[in-house]
Amino acid sequence: MVDPPMIRQRYPGEFFLGFSRDALGLLVKAARDHGDACCFRVGPYRAYLLNHPDLVQDFFSQLQNFQKEPALQITRTVLGDGLLTSEGDYHKKQRQLIQPAFHRQRIASYASIMVEKALALSQKWREGQTLDINEEMMHLALSIVGKSLFGVNLEEEAAEIDEALGTAMAVFKEWMYRPFPTFWAQWPFPKTLRVRKARKSLDSKIFGMIARHRQRGVDNGDLLSMMLFTEDAGGPMTDEQVRDEAMTLLLAGHETVGNALTYTWYLLSQNPEAEARLHTELDSVLGGRSPTLEDVPKLPYTEMVFAESMRLLPPAWALGYLALRDVRIGGYDIPKGAVVNVVQYLLHRDPRFWEEPEKFKPERFSPEAKAGRPRFAYFPFGGGSRQCIGESFAWMEGVLALATLARHWAPRPVAGYKLELFPSITMRPKHGMPMVLHRCS
Ligand code: HEM
Repeated sequence: MVDPPMIRQRYPGEFFLGFSRDALGLLVKAARDHGDACCFRVGPYRAYLLNHPDLVQDFFSQLQNFQKEPALQITRTVLGDGLLTSEGDYHKKQRQLIQPAFHRQRIASYASIMVEKALALSQKWREGQTLDINEEMMHLALSIVGKSLFGVNLEEEAAEIDEALGTAMAVFKEWMYRPFPTFWAQWPFPKTLRVRKARKSLDSKIFGMIARHRQRGVDNGDLLSMMLFTEDAGGPMTDEQVRDEAMTLLLAGHETVGNALTYTWYLLSQNPEAEARLHTELDSVLGGRSPTLEDVPKLPYTEMVFAESMRLLPPAWALGYLALRDVRIGGYDIPKGAVVNVVQYLLHRDPRFWEEPEKFKPERFSPEAKAGRPRFAYFPFGGGSRQCIGESFAWMEGVLALATLARHWAPRPVAGYKLELFPSITMRPKHGMPMVLHRCS
């Protein structure tokens, strides 16, 4: 049996406190001091940090031996039993049912929605206006996923949905680093009540959407129809099941993309050379018109910008899974009941695989540069059987939204803005992203 080095606490509860105060700082230090792997005790759990691409690869190939960690289970209070949180055979069956909505041809049909929604936003923006780009990108991503997957316009509801989600994320951040995280979600503490209120507000939107669709009774081929009208051996999905899947897709599909686009604007504003190269590509390929599906493969630098942004500031910054049985990963024996963490934020900045890792250099994602790196030095969308179902959707959305907006706009942070990160289930900018809009065409 090989055990990675154990990081000892100087006093009981040190890691709980440390994680809730500065999870990123603690993990960066653990990786710097211990390299490929280490373990530590967080309350009742023994936690393993696997910090080498080969270990990450081996781990993802054995996901059948794991379930989502307790800290993620708390999201069930809002998401219910959707794709992100369900396990085992039920998860497998639901993933098969939903997968067709993400097939290449289906995603291609969403391209015009992505451009149309980004264009509508661009037309609303005004020169010199100061706004929170994080809020803008969240609303944009929500309207895109709502229209693409469910055929509904969510612009009017966006602010309320975002407020509910923001409340839930803030409470989750507190709970996820406590002992027995799911305990807090079950009892009527004031914060639990706030999360329940947030869920109620989200439920009213989703159940309304389901009721309207059922009333029309028309199978128009979109995901909601598929979920409502497809019958398997167990009969059609109940409204509650449809609600959980729809809520998961709406939230997982906009929170991540919204943050990725937000960080991309920030990083472009700090890196004028990359921004100029992006504009050169957009001018030469689009020549003054909006992008289309056919342009996506002709915009490699735009995609590289989006990729590099998710390297430095990955919206899904860490993943944690609980071992259901004893497993061996890369020679390390992980006991049943331990939590395994793989952290994108660490490996994406690891100097063993990235030269000058703190610098924003989209060229790292040229085909040649990519070929020279281990596969799991970069995994913004996770891996294995739980890899993000929306990955291709997200790449297309990132390229098309960026291409549509960057043709006209170059946002700049307000004077004195300092980016602080808020690592909860996803990684948001702590105080939003106030930026001033500048027209560039
Ligand atoms: C930049 C954008 C995105 C990022 C960085 C991202 C990241 C991830 C990651 C890391 C996971 C794995 C979670 C885990 O192993 O615990 C995941 C799962 C998932 N993502 Fe995404 N995602 C993005 C966009 C989307 C979009 C656009 C959708 C849907 C429209 C989506 C829906 C989901 C769902 C449903 C799962 C659960 C899949 C399963 O367990 O079967 N994501 N995502």
